[in-house]
Amino acid sequence: MVINLEGKNALITGASRGIGRAIAIKLAEAKANVIINYRSSKEEAENLANYISKEFSVKAIPIQADVGDFEQVKKMKEIISKELGPIQILVNNAGITNDKLLRNMTYDVWDSVIKSNLYSVYNTCFVFLEDMLSSRWGRIINISSIVGLMGSAGQANYAAAKAGIIGFTKSIAKEYAKRNITSNVVCPGYIETDMTSKLATKIKETIIGNIPVGKPGLPEDVANLVVFLASDLASYITGEVINISGGLYM
Ligand SMILES: NC(=O)c1ccc[n+]([C@@H]2O[C@H](COP(=O)([O-])OP(=O)(O)OC[C@H]3O[C@@H](n4cnc5c(N)ncnc54)[C@H](OP(=O)(O)O)[C@@H]3O)[C@@H](O)[C@H]2O)c1
Repeated sequence: MVINLEGKNALITGASRGIGRAIAIKLAEAKANVIINYRSSKEEAENLANYISKEFSVKAIPIQADVGDFEQVKKMKEIISKELGPIQILVNNAGITNDKLLRNMTYDVWDSVIKSNLYSVYNTCFVFLEDMLSSRWGRIINISSIVGLMGSAGQANYAAAKAGIIGFTKSIAKEYAKRNITSNVVCPGYIETDMTSKLATKIKETIIGNIPVGKPGLPEDVANLVVFLASDLASYITGEVINISGGLYM
């Protein structure tokens, strides 16, 4: 069965690079219009928007906003409402890491990671929920991490944020399921992006050595799952936490 999202508007946070970029491309391939949110990679976001609109004949609009900042998300909503209309598919993908052992994790290191990874999810869900309620159809897909389920030395900030996303998503799944809005969590394992390229070679080798399928995941692997969850094929799936890790966490 071919997934068709024609007429749907999707916001993908942190879509200038990596997993978010792949999600924007796959949603556009399924004919959704896409908002390509980014924080600093203006050129990448603009190039992606040009590529998508030419390749898939859908609307693709880059919008700068730090989604960890509530006021900036509200401003982004005003722009989207004028230029595109209501959002029906919200993919909370924006995220950062700043790894430190707890004894070196200053307040700022803690705070910035929680803001970009967790506050961002509250900010966009709160601001765009109204759009989904008025559309009588919505899909919220929040990108967490297997680290939110299993913990990771040096990532207490990131793990706390990613675990927080899970409780948040299950709660809103219960609140809005009857309004035709599903909310699910996707937990990637080790995916090849700028985020993982920063890791030391030895750490990378150890992680990859522990992946049962024997190789890192690609952004497109995660994007395929997100497009499925955004579609009508997944209308009976809500409040779920789906790992996509090649078996690294099961
Ligand atoms: N890669 C993995 O192995 C892996 C595993 C598990 C979970 N994840 C999760 O998957 C998501 C995507 O990761 P990735 O590997 O694709 O990361 P990435 O390559 O580093 O890209 C991160 C994206 O998020 C954007 N971003 C970060 N903070 C933002 C903010 N406050 N406001 C708006 N945009 C923001 C960045 O925008 P700019 O380019 O403008 O900075 C960029 O587009 C993250 O939530 C990450 O935690 C990744």
